[in-house]
Amino acid sequence: MLEKDIERILVSEKEITHICQRLGAKITHDYHGKTPIIIGLLKGCMPFMAELIKYIDLYCEIELMGVSSYHGGIQSSSDVKITKDLETSVHDRDILIAEDIVDTGKTLDVISKLLIHRGARSVEVVTLLDKPAGRIVEFTPKYIGTTIPKEFVVGFGLDYNELYRNLPYVGVLKPEVYKKN
Ligand code: PRP
Repeated sequence: MLEKDIERILVSEKEITHICQRLGAKITHDYHGKTPIIIGLLKGCMPFMAELIKYIDLYCEIELMGVSSYHGGIQSSSDVKITKDLETSVHDRDILIAEDIVDTGKTLDVISKLLIHRGARSVEVVTLLDKPAGRIVEFTPKYIGTTIPKEFVVGFGLDYNELYRNLPYVGVLKPEVYKKN
């Protein structure tokens, strides 16, 4: 049913699995001997984080933080709002932030700086999608699933007006869907 609103699939279910396997193996290697905290930024991180952690073979903790910047539209807004803060200290800990997409870079820039300010030992980012053409703030995630063009995408955690997060793939939304609203 949701498929009728999708122009084309950009990252298939199978590709997402391969990406998570590759990133999980790399993270397992890089964090050998450490016990990182993997912090997912809600809500978009949910499916990606759930899939990724299956392939991380480490002692690691999982935390969630609510962060929002789009507020329902198709453009990222300039203010980054924390809607749910962490319930644990990051002091002296290795932090890996798990994200669905880095677009303008503002969210990751703000949250990375905040966690460093709170005393984290290291802060890195793993993102399923990187959209470098959308950058406003200079930000380079350490672990990137795949790079996408400057198009509005939904699925596998990414929403339009809170819908489409449950698609099992990442796709380009038909422009008529957001033009009629
Ligand atoms: C999306 C996404 C990232 C952020 C990236 O979240 O999950 O957190 O935007 O955009 P940026 O690089 O331009 O800052 P959103 O604010 O839509 O909240 P959501 O995860 O609840 O959908």
